[in-house]
Amino acid sequence: MPQPVAPGTSPLDTLGRPVRDLRISVTDRCNFRCTYCTPKEIFNHEHRFLAREALLSFEEIDRVARSFVRQGVRKIRLTGGEPLLRKGIEDLVAKLALIPGLGDITLTTNGALLGRKARDLAAAGLRRVTVSLDSMDDTVFMAMNDVNFGVQGVLDGIAAAAEAGLTPIKINMVVQRGVNDGSILDMARHFKGSGHTLRFIEYMDVGITNGWRLDDVVPAREIVEMLDREFGIEPVDPSYRGEVAQRWRYRDGTGEVGVITSVSQPFCGDCTRARISAEGAVYTCLFATRGTDLRGVLRAGASDEVLDDVVSGLWTNRADRYSETRWSQTAGLHKVEMSYLGG
Ligand code: GTP
Ligand code: 5AD
Ligand code: SF4
Ligand code: SF4
Repeated sequence: MPQPVAPGTSPLDTLGRPVRDLRISVTDRCNFRCTYCTPKEIFNHEHRFLAREALLSFEEIDRVARSFVRQGVRKIRLTGGEPLLRKGIEDLVAKLALIPGLGDITLTTNGALLGRKARDLAAAGLRRVTVSLDSMDDTVFMAMNDVNFGVQGVLDGIAAAAEAGLTPIKINMVVQRGVNDGSILDMARHFKGSGHTLRFIEYMDVGITNGWRLDDVVPAREIVEMLDREFGIEPVDPSYRGEVAQRWRYRDGTGEVGVITSVSQPFCGDCTRARISAEGAVYTCLFATRGTDLRGVLRAGASDEVLDDVVSGLWTNRADRYSETRWSQTAGLHKVEMSYLGG
């Protein structure tokens, strides 16, 4: 049996990595149907989303989160699906904000409901938000979210978050060649000098429904060169070990941008992230095919000691480094969907 973890120490996985970052999916539902994430042909009225009783309750999420914090987690990110669709999400934030030793609580959202929720989330103790936005052009953006949601709605959400103090705000743009690569410079121009950090994400082969092809990926190097030609940018050191985005700043001092290079330059060596699905399964990689059920453990009445043993046991057995092995051993894997697991 794994030994209990003394305060201040963390179990290491088989590649020597501690767990620092817990990403909690609170729902598998979304009000968007982004073609690269929840394509309508699959996620339609025939798709069975999780039933309410299948979801972890806030009390259960809190127990799991506390267990991970005892193992060394310092940052919690709430994701989905769209996390703001989960009823009472601010009550969950308020609970998590009470966990001693946690340095950061944040949330990744499509922004559509932020205008309504930003103030309550901030009051509950949320520190900051990351908002997804894939284009400044309504035609392109609506074709991508596939529910006719316009750019201005997301910009209003970002403004509400800024007003509520949920800063610094990061903006995530997933770049797909031939779809929204024409929006890269527009997006950069819009957010340059705004105080928000735009990050360009290489389109990834998560799940099995989005029909990913390598040709659809715009390598980060190409994006960096484009930005450098247009605006002039230079690299910035990472703000912490294992940071996902590579940082760059505008030479004229008007802020930063980031690139997330999971396809062209994998960063598994420093990966300190664990993910928990809305139904309470732990996944130690974004590209995992199987999770470890914690809901059953919780609902069987496990004590905190038993829960901690399960969590540290699964972490110490971890050997994931999917992005580094993508090309050699992954054909035909039945990977879980991003809308189920969160980003
Ligand atoms: P900060 O806390 O602000 O540094 O955020 P972050 O970069 O850790 O989190 P965010 O959710 O904003 O991550 C941005 C995107 O990077 C995610 O939505 C994913 O697309 C991708 N990403 C995050 N973590 C991983 C990972 O472990 N592996 C891979 N392959 N991609 C990841
Ligand atoms: N590749 C890269 N990023 C993705 N996201 C969703 N699906 C993909 C994918 N296939 C992004 C979302 C959001 C974050 C949670 O992950 O746009 O910003
Ligand atoms: Fe929803 Fe985000 Fe997936 Fe788009 S990328 S469908 S907003 S979960
Ligand atoms: Fe971590 Fe898996 Fe992403 Fe590699 S592919 S960085 S192990 S989540």
